[in-house]
Amino acid sequence: MKVLDLITKKRDGQSLSAEEINYLVEEYNNEVIPDYQMSALLMSIYFQGLNNKETNALTAALAASGETLDFSSLGKIVVDKHSSGGVGDKVTLVLTPLVAAAGVPVAKISGRGLGFSGGTIDKLESIPGFSAELTTERFFELVTENNLAIMVQTARLTPAEGKLYALRDVTGTVENISLIAASIMSKKIAGGAGAILLDVKTGRGAFMQNRDEAFRLAEIMVRIGKDMDRRIVSVVTDMNQPLGYAVGNALEVKEALAVLRGEGPADVERLCLVLGGYMLALAGRVRNPEEGQTELARLLGNGSALQKFRQMVISQGGRPECLDDPSLLPQAAYSAEIHSPQGGYLREIDARKVGKVALLLGTGRAFKGDEIDPAAGLVLKHKVGDRVAKGDLLACINYNRESVREQACRELLNAFSFGEEPVEPFPLIHGVVPPFPS
Ligand code: URA
Repeated sequence: MKVLDLITKKRDGQSLSAEEINYLVEEYNNEVIPDYQMSALLMSIYFQGLNNKETNALTAALAASGETLDFSSLGKIVVDKHSSGGVGDKVTLVLTPLVAAAGVPVAKISGRGLGFSGGTIDKLESIPGFSAELTTERFFELVTENNLAIMVQTARLTPAEGKLYALRDVTGTVENISLIAASIMSKKIAGGAGAILLDVKTGRGAFMQNRDEAFRLAEIMVRIGKDMDRRIVSVVTDMNQPLGYAVGNALEVKEALAVLRGEGPADVERLCLVLGGYMLALAGRVRNPEEGQTELARLLGNGSALQKFRQMVISQGGRPECLDDPSLLPQAAYSAEIHSPQGGYLREIDARKVGKVALLLGTGRAFKGDEIDPAAGLVLKHKVGDRVAKGDLLACINYNRESVREQACRELLNAFSFGEEPVEPFPLIHGVVPPFPS
């Protein structure tokens, strides 16, 4: 096969066979195909798209490019969960121990954050001692023993996906829906879970800002999962305003602990119960998602989910004292308050702008490999729809670099917009693909 022929074939709108896609992925992974040729192919795909067969073939080839996990020997359906990324999204920290406490094994492979949306691993690593750098053998052991482990995505799993993503990032080819679907699903397929719950976010702070595009992505990923014999549901959820109140690594751990104690923000708790209900139903633990939600509300209320979180933290090296006393989590040297310049109803708290302020404070990475500040972040005091008076506290920022204070305060205030009339709060859940049960 000649790479140039395959590039021109795609450029001219013809489809590639599974064999051709396998060849391209394998040889790119082996560094036989150079970046300049793969870039041309990606740009051809960006404009010409991939059909269902091609998207499936790409997903399978990326998944097979490294180690793959197989939990079938457990004799139970193992579930995984993926969020397409958002601001203040600490759901995994609550949801995974909650579902595991219901007796359903959860094998969660997560990435570190990139850009303004945070990563679960960075949040967990703000707990002193916690490590997500597990070998696949240890990951398997912990899922078997505790029903729960969270591992960082390593270069041994889907290495071709990692290389391709890095190339897409610098060639303007990330925003193609088939490439996004294949990228996400290849990691889920390699992770070995039999059931997958996808939280596809839409809105200002999401990858897919457009609601219809988010549903399209959800549908493509569900189809790929089904074609690959996975039980799968996508829930399309709102990311116009941040989830909960806290944005920042240790601050989000603290808020997740409050949810696990039944004292957290209502939106985070509700989303965890809804997503968890689907996870229990997918695993066959309950007859329907509503029954799952009832069971999970019970496990949240009786402390079982918090207990499971504690077990996971201890098993992965974290200091459990931090869970009882969150003041032992990293704390920033400085803080500042932002007050409302006017009275009115909060019409918008723009998640994208809030995420960018969090990044400025040090919560995330602008580039892969950047250091993050586990203590930095911000805590909002309101949600969209709240009525505020002039001078009310809108948010607090926590930071270690004094130079960022003024810009962060100015830009955070800019994320709020006010109106005279009462505002309907945004819906948290936009829809489920496929409508359950399918
Ligand atoms: N997240 C992924 O994992 N891959 C993409 O292509 C986009 C978002």
